[in-house]
Amino acid sequence: MIRSVVRGFGAALPKRVLTNREMEDIVETNDEWIVQRTGIRQRYIAGEGETTASLGEAAARAALDRAKLTPADIDMIIVATSTPDNTFPATAVNIQARLGMHHGFAFDVQAVCTGFVYAVATADAYIRGGLARRALVIGAETFSRILDWTDRTTCVLFGDGAGALVLEAAEGKGTIADRGVLTANLRSDGAHRDKLYVDGGPSTTGTVGHLRMEGREVFKHAVGMVTDVIEGAFNATGTTADDLDWLVPHQANRRIIDGSARKLGIPLEKVVVTVDLHGNTSAASIPLAIATAAGDGRIKEGDLVMLEAMGGGFTWGAVLLRW
Ligand code: ACO
Repeated sequence: MIRSVVRGFGAALPKRVLTNREMEDIVETNDEWIVQRTGIRQRYIAGEGETTASLGEAAARAALDRAKLTPADIDMIIVATSTPDNTFPATAVNIQARLGMHHGFAFDVQAVCTGFVYAVATADAYIRGGLARRALVIGAETFSRILDWTDRTTCVLFGDGAGALVLEAAEGKGTIADRGVLTANLRSDGAHRDKLYVDGGPSTTGTVGHLRMEGREVFKHAVGMVTDVIEGAFNATGTTADDLDWLVPHQANRRIIDGSARKLGIPLEKVVVTVDLHGNTSAASIPLAIATAAGDGRIKEGDLVMLEAMGGGFTWGAVLLRW
């Protein structure tokens, strides 16, 4: 049975750090409010020349280096993003060109903060279906460019960055002891589409628009949705929270992360948290968190790892994999 095994990981952040203290000069806010409500202490903001594609390329190159591979070894690129360099072509083909690749195929996935979970699930399905052997799965965002910098209820929450995984087809026995993606559980419900959205687009206003959010509404749904898909992933594989080595949640908000872990009975020592350093980087947050925890040796070969996210749409989902 074919499994999609993680062969490499990488991350990239813009040069500029914007601290909560510096935020106080931009909008009426303060460090204490932001830390208490969200756990965020700083975020990275893309500067001149830094774009979703340039950050995604840097993360992809880091993942290839770690895997000891080159672009010639890759046959599929999937980029999860809601902040593409252009409306089209896809940021994935931009990155393909930057990597000097003329072979294979590349496309974007748009599921907002759940984008990376959707992208891993998509890459896994393509690999198991025999359409690709090695995939670069990238989450890359520049949310700073769609924020309303006069709206304190949203602009303090988000940041920019990118992360990437190399997934590779490998023969497994078809048990949960196999390395690779074990299951994916994806959901969406468009009834919630106006609770977190961008108020512009090519087919409506002809503008890029700004992010708008009913924060309390998002918060109200987040923990229930996330724990639901995680429990689904446990049930599908006959595993439980006790078997888990690491929970790598989407990094939106410390209170959502802690609430979800508590509800599932997952001790906080097993939860990877980077929201304090990166803010909410949407589709980039999970691969950035993976690169942090695998880079410092916490996530090791053989570990059982749950990725989970919830975001605009609403979309939500979980992927269970053996590292
Ligand atoms: N600084 C200081 N005060 C602020 C700020 C700020 N940046 N933003 C809002 N306030 C004020 C409000 O104006 C309000 O004041 P008032 O009582 O005088 O009217 C007060 O703080 C409380 O505002 P609420 O919106 O009720 O604050 P809440 O406790 O709900 O926290 C937050 C807001 C952090 C956005 C919370 O709702 C939340 O975490 N929501 C989840 C949203 C999220 O994480 N979205 C990310 C995208 S989706 C995803 O990735 C899962």
